[in-house]
Amino acid sequence: MELLKKRILQDGVAMGNHVLKVDSFLNHQIDVELFNEIGREFQRRFAGQTITKILTVEASGIAVACIAAQYFQHVPVVFAKKQEASNLSDQVYASNVFSFTKNKNYVIRVDKKYLSATDTVLIIDDFLANGNAALGLIDLVNQAGAQVAGVGIVIEKGFQSGRQLLEERGYRVESLAIVKEIKDGTVILSD
Ligand code: G4P
Repeated sequence: MELLKKRILQDGVAMGNHVLKVDSFLNHQIDVELFNEIGREFQRRFAGQTITKILTVEASGIAVACIAAQYFQHVPVVFAKKQEASNLSDQVYASNVFSFTKNKNYVIRVDKKYLSATDTVLIIDDFLANGNAALGLIDLVNQAGAQVAGVGIVIEKGFQSGRQLLEERGYRVESLAIVKEIKDGTVILSD
């Protein structure tokens, strides 16, 4: 997606050789016009499938998923919660996720009411690094007996193993921009 790639090159900030900071338009301040184009592109890429739910994980995935959902036909967004909350029932699907970035495990949860065996679920997230968050979300969908339509990612870090892990398991991955390398403060994108 050219508009997104241009924006990453213009405003993305390399942090060492592994992290791309995109706080100015994606992870902190949100460029809603850009998000609209991102949402439209996800819809275009997954147009061949009848999606019934979009699933993401808090926090940054929520805004991307909600704007994208407007381009699908009456598709609700469900976000997995990272905190145990008093307003969450004990009837939940839960999965353990290991974050390499933060070097810790966390549990993601979705109330069983919001995923069912009749659903075809599109998973959306802002970043794909090692794929653990996406695998956790897929696990929740599988526990519900629902179908995974695919995984839609705004920015993939192509030098980490996320895509390989997901594709090996037979899941379709659509990333709107792929970072090939981060080197000496420069971000290199795939064509
Ligand atoms: P993984 O899920 O693909 O295995 O990735 P990892 O555990 O390494 O990522 C953990 C968190 O860090 C995720 O957000 C992910 O989106 C984010 N992240 C990973 N690499 C980058 C990067 O290069 N740049 C930025 N900006 N974020 C990155 P999270 O902890 O769930 O945070 P949030 O959604 O609550 O903001």
